[in-house]
Order: sequence, then C-alpha cells, then structure tokens
Amino acid sequence: MFSRRSLLAAGAAGLILSSAAQAQETVKIGMILPMTGPFASTGRQIEAAAKLYIAQHGDRVAGKKIQLLVQDDGGVADQTKRIAQEMIVNQKVAVLTGFGLTPLAFAVAPLATQAKVPTIVMAAATSSITEKSPYILRTSFTLPQAAVPLADWAAKEGIKTVVTVVADYGPGIDAETAFKNRFGAAGGQVTESIRVPVANPDFAPFLQRVKDAKPNAVFVFVPSGVGSAFMKQFKERGLAEAGIKLIGTGDVTDDDILNSMGDVALGTITTHHYSAAHDSPENKAFVTAFKAANKDMRPNFMAAGGYDGIALIYQALKATNGATGGDALLAAMKTAKWESPRGPVAIDPQTRELVQNIYLREVKSVGGELYNVEFGKAEAVKDPAKSPAN
Ligand code: DHB
Repeated sequence: MFSRRSLLAAGAAGLILSSAAQAQETVKIGMILPMTGPFASTGRQIEAAAKLYIAQHGDRVAGKKIQLLVQDDGGVADQTKRIAQEMIVNQKVAVLTGFGLTPLAFAVAPLATQAKVPTIVMAAATSSITEKSPYILRTSFTLPQAAVPLADWAAKEGIKTVVTVVADYGPGIDAETAFKNRFGAAGGQVTESIRVPVANPDFAPFLQRVKDAKPNAVFVFVPSGVGSAFMKQFKERGLAEAGIKLIGTGDVTDDDILNSMGDVALGTITTHHYSAAHDSPENKAFVTAFKAANKDMRPNFMAAGGYDGIALIYQALKATNGATGGDALLAAMKTAKWESPRGPVAIDPQTRELVQNIYLREVKSVGGELYNVEFGKAEAVKDPAKSPAN
C-alpha cells in the first residue's frame, strides 16, 4: 500500500520534473534592441526580420520550442547591460542577440564571457567588438569589410583626392582608418579627415569645409538612419555642383530611408553587404515576405543581420540536436554557413565574423523607386582589420 504522504511526495516530484522538462523544451532567445530613440529604425528592422524568419521556418527546432524575447534598451548602454543581466539570470536565455550600436555591444561583452552565453551582434559594426568576448559572433559586418573594396574602386576610377567625413565613434573611426590606409596604398590621398558628433549632427559646417577643400570625392560613414540628414545638407551646400563625388559605406543610403531622399541620392556609389535590390531568388523571396508582413516596409541591411542571426541559431540548434549549453552552441555556430538573402555567408571560426560578399552599388531609380543597384563585388571578404592578407 502507498501511504498518502508518499503519493503526495511522488506527485510533487512529478510536477517538478515536468516543469523542468518543459523549461528544457523551450529555448529562449534574448533580443535587446533600440526600439525607441534616434536609432529605433534599427530595432524595428531587426525585430521584423527575426519574427519573419521564425514565422517562415516554424518555432520548433530539433524538438525545442523557440521563444523570442524582445526588449528595448533605447540605445543606452547601461540599459543594454541591465537587460542582458536580467535575461541571463532570470530568463535563462540560451542566446543573446541584437545590439544596435557599438557601445551597446561593448556593454554586454563581459556578461557574455562570464555566463558563457553565445551573443550574436546583428547590427553594431566596429571591428573590435568580437575581440571583447570569445562568446560574441556577428551577422552584421565590419566597417573595414565595407570600406576596403570602396578604396580599391575609387583608386581604379582615377579618384585622386578624398576628404573623409565619419561619425565620431568606433565604426566611423574604423571606416576612416580602413579607407585611408587602403586608398593611400593604392596611390590616392585622403587630404582631410573630419569627424562629426554621433547624436543629431549638423553636417552643414563640415560639408562647407569639404566644399572649400575641393577633393575629387567625399567618403562618408554615418550610422543607419542618419543618411537623410547628410543628404539634405549635401544638396543644400551644392557639393555635387562643385564636382565633388559622394562615396561611402552603404549605411548612408540605407534601404529604410533611401527612397525618401530624392534625386540628390542618385549616382551615390557605396559598398555594402546587403541591398534590397540584390538579384537572387533568396532575396526576392525575403523582400516580398518582409514587405507583406510589415506594411510595405523595405528591408535594409539591419534586417539582413537580424534574419541571418536567427538562421545561425537555428542551424546551431540542429547541429547540437537541440542541446543548448553555451559552449556546444558556440562551437556549432563557429562552423556555420548558409545562403543568406545577401548571398553566401559563413562564420569565420578564427574571428567569429561573417565572411561575405561586399557589393559595389550605385543609387538608381528602378520602377520609380530609388535602389542601391549592384554592379560589382568582392567575394568572401573576411574582416580586413583581423585578416590583413584579405
Ligand atoms: C553601427 C551602427 C549603425 O547604425 C551602422 O549602420 C553601422 C555601425 C555601430 O554603432 O556599430
């Protein structure tokens, strides 16, 4: 005979077991993004793309249920850190993702290392981020990756003198350095390097300086969302009329805002890893589905980073057969490769950066809308800041 007490104890143990089993059945992905503030478009794009990936591929992988937790850090590093801590300790997330700006990624690096949680940077693009923790991987890009092929193109085009204008923080300084070194090695000359404040920059005085310096071209890096303000001033200052060509990394002609910039953007030459106009069946399907799910919003490079970040998690979970230990997931992520809307991509196991094509693009009007139309590419580009031979 079973006593009442032993039955009760067995029942309680069963309850505990089943809730533990249930917890193990669910894989939580913690996503921290600027959903408010000046960089909210980055958060909006990444969240939409991540949700699209899950809707298209189902919310079960290797027998596990995927749960996406999205929280807004407002673009403030202290908030990113606080939310990451809460997600690790209380939510027990298997992976951290998001990170709309470099300082936000820097803020979580020590936590990722301490908790051994794979952390996928989907937006921020300063080269050194992946060196801040062995648990950080990246599905966005690095500024040197984008800037080096542009320096090669500019030198080949016979551009001799360039003034650089960059946002004064990590990615801007990376862009400035990579462009200047490569262009200089190819025989060109950066005659002046101007750094502008990151928050609410007034480009007018800086662009007047560019106009007075009369270079063949101005190279620009501004973070996603800021391109419109730059273009407006570029037009008002009459730089194009003064014969100064506009070139830059593709952040300035971000697909989220490009179509609203008007004719001033036409002819801008940029290099980047993703264009909504990229001509592949995978990208056509991605753009169509993204627009259908988000009231005609056009995906930009941030969306590509978010979509691919979830693809990376799904691939790793399949490889581990659903095991969610940080080290097992990290090991699987380091050898991942897949076909992205941007083209073929792979994680470089040495650096945890994404090896990807960088495309040369020109802003053109296609069917009455402005697009970054690709006209060339550098294939399988590693982060040149870490792989000098590339
Ligand atoms: C970063 C942010 C951006 O919006 C961008 O386009 C590139 C880099 C960053 O903060 O790292």
